[in-house]
Amino acid sequence: MSVIGVLTAGGDCPGLNAVIRGIVVRAHENHDAEVVGIMNGWEGLMDGDVKLLGPRDVSDILAKGGTVLGTSRKDPYVHGDGYASIAKTIKRNDIDTLIVIGGDGTLRTALRLSEDGAKVVGVPKTIDNDINGTDFTFGFNTAVQIVTDAIDRLTTTAEAHNRVILVEVMGRTKGWIATYGGIAGGAQAVLIPEVPYDLDEVTALIRRRHRRGKNYSVVVVAEGVEPPQKVEHQKDIFGFDRLGGVAYQLAPVIERLTGYETRVTVLGHLQRGGTPSAFDRVLATRLGTKAADLAAEGQHGTMVAMRGADIVAVPLAEGCAEIRGVDQPLYDVAQTFFG
Ligand code: F6P
Repeated sequence: MSVIGVLTAGGDCPGLNAVIRGIVVRAHENHDAEVVGIMNGWEGLMDGDVKLLGPRDVSDILAKGGTVLGTSRKDPYVHGDGYASIAKTIKRNDIDTLIVIGGDGTLRTALRLSEDGAKVVGVPKTIDNDINGTDFTFGFNTAVQIVTDAIDRLTTTAEAHNRVILVEVMGRTKGWIATYGGIAGGAQAVLIPEVPYDLDEVTALIRRRHRRGKNYSVVVVAEGVEPPQKVEHQKDIFGFDRLGGVAYQLAPVIERLTGYETRVTVLGHLQRGGTPSAFDRVLATRLGTKAADLAAEGQHGTMVAMRGADIVAVPLAEGCAEIRGVDQPLYDVAQTFFG
């Protein structure tokens, strides 16, 4: 009987448990394989913190947010000595293939490990939807729905008070959540890291809109846009900037340039918590079952991906080649409705 190890690393994301369930059930039902769950991401692999996962353990986790395996931003190359620091746990548990569910940082680590000899299959995970090689990542659809609901609510209160409201959403380097959320919520402007903004232009379109009789505006701001003044961010354990709050810098400038009271709502981790949408449950289940198939077939160094309506295997290196940004035609659609 072969053994599959599975871990979730980096920020959590709605649908992680659905992926884990998909892997475990598929491994047992179709491949006569055993699954070992690794606790708290790479940390558990370095420390030997694992538990056996059978179908009964995952029978009620499909709709649960978070991850039953826990997660961390510890990394074997940053906090250990690379492959050597995980080799013992792999050997002791007879793990044949490691399925790594993670975002860009985690997948890059998985690629490095696979180049150093580990047998790895990746599952792309992030609400940010910015992994290369896949059309969508699970969790994104849920996050966009949360943002859309928030914009709908903020729009009515903005209108009641004649205000401009800035809604800050996640998106470290790419503005997928902001762009989709802005289109779905009918925002008056969307600021994303990929497209440099000009506050004179943004405020001109708000003023024009208000001159034409609309006395409120909702602007979506991705957390990763360039701040008006440079700020020193705290770092997380992986070394990433801890973002959040750029809209608080933008609001006084927009208020001064427009003359309209401008308020801020930062959605933060609300976008990552809670139950996955139906779309994400299906996508996560398909990705999990496919990852178990690839592990059983020995297709290592690969990543599962959504291409069109299909779930396929792509080289892990392709998933790590770049961080995928919003394409101009999509941003153009959002822009059509600015002002
Ligand atoms: O990578 C996904 C993400 O949601 C980013 O958009 C955000 O900047 C980051 O995680 C926040 O992660 P954490 O709460 O772990 O610092």
